Amino acid sequence: MAYRMEGLPERVTVYEVGPRDGLQNESAIVPVEVKAEFVDRLADAGHTVVEATSFVHPKWVPQLADAAELLGRLDRRPGVRYPVLVPNERGLDRALELGVTEIAIFASATETFAAKNLNRTLESQFDMFEPVVARALEHGLDVRAYVSMCFGDPWEGPTPIEQVVAVGERLLGLGCYQLSLGDTIGVGTPGHVTALIGAFGGPDRLAVHFHDTYGQALGNTLAALKAGVTTVDASTGGIGGCPYAESATGNLATEDLVWMLRGLGIETGLDLDKLVSTSTWLAERLGRPSPSRVVQALAKG
Ligand code: HMG
Ligand code: MG
Repeated sequence: MAYRMEGLPERVTVYEVGPRDGLQNESAIVPVEVKAEFVDRLADAGHTVVEATSFVHPKWVPQLADAAELLGRLDRRPGVRYPVLVPNERGLDRALELGVTEIAIFASATETFAAKNLNRTLESQFDMFEPVVARALEHGLDVRAYVSMCFGDPWEGPTPIEQVVAVGERLLGLGCYQLSLGDTIGVGTPGHVTALIGAFGGPDRLAVHFHDTYGQALGNTLAALKAGVTTVDASTGGIGGCPYAESATGNLATEDLVWMLRGLGIETGLDLDKLVSTSTWLAERLGRPSPSRVVQALAKG
């Protein structure tokens, strides 16, 4: 039984980041065949977009050093997109060699995180991204952009909204088809989400990417949906975090999101039972239970 609320979309695209944002923080290396099966199970559960891995420096994120091998093992399904994270031209070259058709760049809204995550300044991160986006577009790729630390930063405190908008508008201006607003450390609250989307002039080309560190991810998602956003990032099982921001815990769990959207009568095309069994299967491989409340409730039966 669904109970609709006024002012919400009919359909939401869940942009699944489990294999990338979820796994990148795991210290024990997950075998590549487990990653490939994870991605395939996500597609089987109805996902139309699964962010598969990252072409970052392997020393920076050792867990995803097998990106090329993973892509070679993917059983690509028609109608499913498999974007990858790319920070620079070296990463783009690696992705192009493998026939990738969609990439995501990832910028910082704050000076400190630009240094810690990208070894760049707030300004010089654009010197890195501009040629990546230009070349990717020349090759016909779709380019998504993230902006991290949109609500607060562990070193600098709350992030000024105008600073986020300045970075975000520049990324969109490069030709990115979508901008995902990242609450990397999960400190945002619903009114802040509404204010940030409003400062962008509305939801056009915006997606949201919430980490659930302070338990705000679902409330923030509802605020974003009310503001007109229709793409929501989530990670199956709620796994994840950012290796360069210790206070970042897992993303909003896909199952928690789907439970809420299903209850609101919003279409996602996702099979909740298949997502939960995937999370239970992955939890056994990672050696600890999924942090998702919905997985915990449903897995108990
Ligand atoms: P750098 O050290 O400044 O790199 O790192 P460089 O350009 O000076 O190059 C140094 C060497 O690295 C060179 O090799 C390059 O070829 C090599 P050498 O000539 O010395 O032999 N190199 C590479 N090798 C393979 N692949 C590459 C690559 N790039 C350079 N792509 C860099 C700069 C951006 C590469 C580094 O800082 C990096 O890899 N950072 C990635 C950090 C990361 O992945 N963080 C997690 C993802 S972001 C996130 O989780 C947030 C998000 O979820 C949203 C949210 O929650 O807010 C997206
Ligand atoms: Mg993230």
